[in-house]
Amino acid sequence: MSNRQLDADAILDRAKPVIHQQAHEIHPYGHLVRLPIALAENVCKESVDSLNQLLADTITLRDLYKKHHWQVAGPTFYQLHLLFDKHFDQQSELVDAIAERIQLLGGVSLAMAPDVAETTLIPRPPKGREEVPVQVSRLLHAHEVVLKEARTMARRAAEVGDDGTNDLLVSNIIRTNELQVMPLVHAEDSEQVGPT
Ligand SMILES: [Fe+2]
Repeated sequence: MSNRQLDADAILDRAKPVIHQQAHEIHPYGHLVRLPIALAENVCKESVDSLNQLLADTITLRDLYKKHHWQVAGPTFYQLHLLFDKHFDQQSELVDAIAERIQLLGGVSLAMAPDVAETTLIPRPPKGREEVPVQVSRLLHAHEVVLKEARTMARRAAEVGDDGTNDLLVSNIIRTNELQVMPLVHAEDSEQVGPT
């Protein structure tokens, strides 16, 4: 085998992706890393814990919208199909903003579905398709869960001086969720539950 060929083999070996690598995690969930953002550790810790709860509930609400976007049926299909996807996109932006705020405060964001399922306060819907009024009332309840906790968290964040978290909660979470409730209320008015 020539030297030239050996070099080519070595180069190709280096280009092969290395998979199944394992190592200890570098920042365990629930632990805080202090960042120079002029906020006390206990304040960051409290905000991180609250925001992870809100994150789990927002991910669940986001996914509930996609489920209903796919599964909606009936005479209002087209409007609701579009509305549910629009709200899904807006909730996705909120998910990203909450998760990044948690990292910025020195925490670790929840991310994966099993962890979200363990944490969320929003009831799990069935796998199958439900009627429009049931879909809508599930969404309204989920919005109320989020709004209630976001308001409590916003007041607490203001009290302890975490203005960034307070602003995210009020300007983004509370306002977006309130706005999304309105078209759902009207959708519910125009639908009737079928015979049970
Ligand atoms: Fe779609």
